[in-house]
Amino acid sequence: MRRRDFIRAGTVSGIVAGTGAFGAASDPLAALVRGPGRRTRSGEVRLNSNENPLGIAPAAREALVDAITLANRYPSAQNAAMVSQLAAAHDVGDDQVVLGTGSAEVLQMAVQAFAAPRARLVMADPTYEAVTNYQRTEAYELIKVPLTSDHEHDLDRMREAAEGSGHPALVYLCNPNNPTATITPSAAIDAWIADAPPHVFFLSDEAYIEYVEDDRMWSSLQWIESKRNVLVVKTFSKIYALAGLRLGYGIAHPDTAARLRDFASRNNVNQLAIAAAGASYGDEGLIMKSREVNRQSREMTEATLDELDLQRMPTHANFLMHRINGDLATYRNRMAEAGFLVGRDFPPKLDWNRLSFGLPEDMGRFCDTLRDFRKKGWI
Ligand SMILES: Cc1ncc(COP(=O)(O)O)c(C=O)c1O
Repeated sequence: MRRRDFIRAGTVSGIVAGTGAFGAASDPLAALVRGPGRRTRSGEVRLNSNENPLGIAPAAREALVDAITLANRYPSAQNAAMVSQLAAAHDVGDDQVVLGTGSAEVLQMAVQAFAAPRARLVMADPTYEAVTNYQRTEAYELIKVPLTSDHEHDLDRMREAAEGSGHPALVYLCNPNNPTATITPSAAIDAWIADAPPHVFFLSDEAYIEYVEDDRMWSSLQWIESKRNVLVVKTFSKIYALAGLRLGYGIAHPDTAARLRDFASRNNVNQLAIAAAGASYGDEGLIMKSREVNRQSREMTEATLDELDLQRMPTHANFLMHRINGDLATYRNRMAEAGFLVGRDFPPKLDWNRLSFGLPEDMGRFCDTLRDFRKKGWI
């Protein structure tokens, strides 16, 4: 049985036993896939960047090794094949898919493509900051709208900000939202998209959608056939565990996709990323295992935070936000000394930590560390 078939054939409990290892302990590939990447070189466990702690799937690893022989070749043929694979999976034309070096590049393309004098960039606060960074050199007026008390995008206020001036507006919707891991119900987003004037452009970032189990949220993909003003952005960095290889993509109306492509760097996606992504995409075993391990880590973490009476936000992704009762920089330093890298500052939530879920065994040690911090009066 090929490794990929092995993953597909396994049951959740069978696959998850021993958390983290994809194959038998004696399998050298499994050992390579499992060990590194969990920790930094200096030994800390990385709970700070919303990465997938499982490491790449064996099928991706095999594909990477095979693709090394293509390293001297420009990737245009492979790029086209990847586009076709994604287009077929999403039931859209090849001309509707734009690849990027991570979804970050697709976000950057959108910010550049839709910049215009007096255009507004409307986004939640806090939300994923890449879009904010990319607009610095552009002509946007940046408008940040605080999340509601339920940590949802405040769509009414965002709409006022986007439609109020009559000038073009780029609306960034990060759902689930980073750093809060909370969702905004899709019905409300759909209602706005259905009615919005064409000068309002929706940038729908679905980096974490594969983790969502709440039926109030769904993809915005349904809009791209009929609306030129919607771009859906997805990534291989999260559920597919390929953050280090940098591959993401956007899906949009063909005209919108063509406009974005003008802002892509030439031959942006490399042979290895394409090979690994092609081997991983749609791998139900990988997705199931990523979700299951995430669920175990989440439940353990939530139970510990509740036990310690540390307020937490509901999570729909592979991370959560929780209170720390103290200074965030001090907390981060103490956690680093204890062997854990935890999230960066996300103003205005400076008494909350964004915690990415690691493997259950690492989260067990993290939870013990939290209890220890409580005993010391640090949290
Ligand atoms: C919401 C969101 N969008 C996009 C990205 C960028 O991901 P990548 O460029 O690795 O696809 C991230 C990274 O953490 C993210 O959290």
